[in-house]
Parts: sequence; structure tokens; C-alpha cells
Amino acid sequence: MCSCCRRPCHILLPLLLPLLPLLFLYPSAAPRVKRPAPLPLRFRYDGTFKILQVADMHFGNGLITRCRDVELSEAAWCSDLNTTRFLKRMIQAEDPDLVVFTGDNIFGSSATDAAESLFQAFRPVMESRTPWAAILGNHDQESTMTRGELMSFISLMDYSISQVNPSTVEPTKIDGFGNYDVTVKGAFGSELSNTSIFSLYFLDSGDREMVNGFKTYGYIKESQLAWLRRTSQELQANFQAPALAFFHIAIPEVRDLWFKEFIGHYQEGVACSSVNSGVLKSLVSMGDVKAVFLGHDHLNDFCGEIDGIWFCYGGGFGYHGYGRAHWPRRARVISASLRRGKRNWLGIEAIRTWKRLDDGKLSKIDDQVLWRDDEVEGLD
Ligand SMILES: *[C@@H]1O[C@H](CO)[C@@H](O)[C@H](O)[C@H]1NC(C)=O
Ligand SMILES: *[C@@H]1O[C@H](CO)[C@@H](O)[C@H](O)[C@H]1NC(C)=O
Repeated sequence: MCSCCRRPCHILLPLLLPLLPLLFLYPSAAPRVKRPAPLPLRFRYDGTFKILQVADMHFGNGLITRCRDVELSEAAWCSDLNTTRFLKRMIQAEDPDLVVFTGDNIFGSSATDAAESLFQAFRPVMESRTPWAAILGNHDQESTMTRGELMSFISLMDYSISQVNPSTVEPTKIDGFGNYDVTVKGAFGSELSNTSIFSLYFLDSGDREMVNGFKTYGYIKESQLAWLRRTSQELQANFQAPALAFFHIAIPEVRDLWFKEFIGHYQEGVACSSVNSGVLKSLVSMGDVKAVFLGHDHLNDFCGEIDGIWFCYGGGFGYHGYGRAHWPRRARVISASLRRGKRNWLGIEAIRTWKRLDDGKLSKIDDQVLWRDDEVEGLD
């Protein structure tokens, strides 16, 4: 053991020996390090990459936290553990490459200890060893942690690829916590195996704001949009990768979909900020974002297209969040698939989405194509 340091050992050993019993007194004193997700993320050999979106888990204290808006006959035997069970079943059924939690992961006012609730809420995804990313909603910080503390904590959990904020921007120069991007590389063995061919943007849409003396919901600020536009430009300089964006609170334009076309349910008013900070304008100008995934309004699970970009709600997932009896809790799945070239996989050919209901058979509904490329870039 000490072959390379004979002399120091002779000095140190007598000093260390008395400490030895401590090892037995504290058998679990070994430092617990984060289990990292295998990065970079990449497409599978079969040319697919699948994301599970979990919107609004609203996790509280677990077994003692009751379900809201379930049938009376089911209320007595329903708790946060039903949310846990649904998450486990979804991960098992879809076997996603990434799970994205789009905010209100914990319901602060029902969570006595934020850390404990986070551990319980994210346990199924950590146990599955699936890489996962989370952003914050408007309720996460209502317990014992600030938004900054929550994002740092979440970024340190097993298999989490969440980040507090981009390392390329000074912390004081960007609003919010949980603005970051993640890229996905091509399949192993293909010409694009070292190229980022799919971009994922995560943004903090805040909680609440006072605007001209009126209380309204949070919104994405110019500092965040500036970072987003710059990042998109840098990524696209390397490769014209299609992108997806994830944030919790919708933007005002989503309201207009009521008068247009949408796929899914539009059952409640879009609860967003009275401020229009120009998110849509930025996304359109970037050109790479094909779809945006939202949470917050649990009774909405629709997708609708605005200026060439799809806006899709996840639909409420958690049993402690408000919902509707007889309208099962649900989750969204997003799947990207590559174009098959003559000799190897090329860039992304199509992006689809569907939802699954927490009924007996995890019914699959509203399968639709969000984007399809006619000319895929790449060598063949
Ligand atoms: C909650 O879980 C229990 C036990 O697994 C199950 O019997 C019950 O039907 C579930 N309730 C709902 C509303 O899904
Ligand atoms: C990807 O990078 C690895 C390591 O640098 C290299 O060995 C491999 O040839 C590269 N593959 C392609 C397709 O460029």
C-alpha cells in the first residue's frame, strides 16, 4: 500500500491509527458523489431519440399528501405515491432517452422539506438511471429552498443534466435559474457521431411579477432571450440542427389558438403573464426551434402551431395538482428520428409527439407529426 511513499507512511501511520475506530462508528461516512449521466446524449443505433415530458408533478410529502380532483371512491387511497407509480410506469413503457420535468415539480406549500420532496419526486427517474433535466415552475420555491437553491440541488442529483445557468454568462447577467441548453449527437458509428444534431433549450419562465402595481405571472426576460439567440446562432454555425424549447408558463400568443386549430384539449384559460416580452419573435428569428413544450395549465394538453412553431402542453401529471376526475392524468412523449442514408444515419427526418394517459393500459392518444425535414443535411 505504501510502496511509493515509505517514509511519509512511517510518520503518518501512528497518527492515523487512533482514528481507525471512527471508520466503524460512521460506516456511511464515505462521501456520496453524484452519479453522472453518460454524456453527450446521442441518438440510438436505431436512429431514434425519445423524450418524456412530465409536467406539474406537484409533489408534496409523499404518502400523506392527498390527491386532488379524483373520483370520490378513489380519494381515500390516493396520494403522491400515485404520481410516483405513474412516473415509474411511463419510464418503463416508453424507455425514454431523456426525461424533462417542466416545472411545479414539487408543490412548495405541501412540501415540508424541499430537499426531501425533490428526492421523492425524482426517485423513479434516478432509479431508472435515465438522464433527466428539470426546470422550475411557479410553485417549486414555496417550500424551504429559493429558486437558485432548487436549481443547484437539482443539478447535483443522480443522472440529472440540469444546470443552474449557462457557464458562458455571468450569473448576474441573466435572469432566473435554470436557463441552459443540451445538445444531442448523432448515432455511434455514423458520420454525425461527433456532431450536435438536435438542440434542446431550457428556460426559466419565473413565478410571479409585479407589473405597474398589478400582480401577474412570471415571464422570460430579454437577458434570457439574448443568451438564447446567441446560443442558437453558435450551434447553427456548426450544424443546422432542429431544436425544441421547454419552459413552464405559456406566452400570450398561445391564447389565440382557441380561435385556430389545435390537437388535444383546450379546457382552461391560458394563465400567463400580462407582459409580452417578445419570446415568439425571438424564437421565430432563431429559426431552429420547431416546437415548445409547456406546463402550468393542467387541463390543457393541446398542441397548436403559431408562426411555424408548435406550442404543446404536457397536460397535468401529478395527483396533488388540480385536475379533473374522469380526465386521467397524462404525460407527453416526443420522438425524433433520423433519416436513413445509403450507408449511415443522416440528420433528423421527423419529430413526432403523443401522450399517454394514466389509465389501466397507458392509452396512447393524439399521435402527430410536429416537423418533417425535406432536405436533411449530412454526408452519405
Ligand atoms: C392510486 O394507487 C392505488 C394503489 O396503487 C390504486 O389502487 C388507486 O386506484 C390509484 N388511484 C388513482 C386515482 O389512480
Ligand atoms: C469522432 O471523434 C472520435 C474521437 O476524436 C474519432 O476517433 C472519430 O473518427 C470521429 N468520428 C467522426 C465520424 O468524425
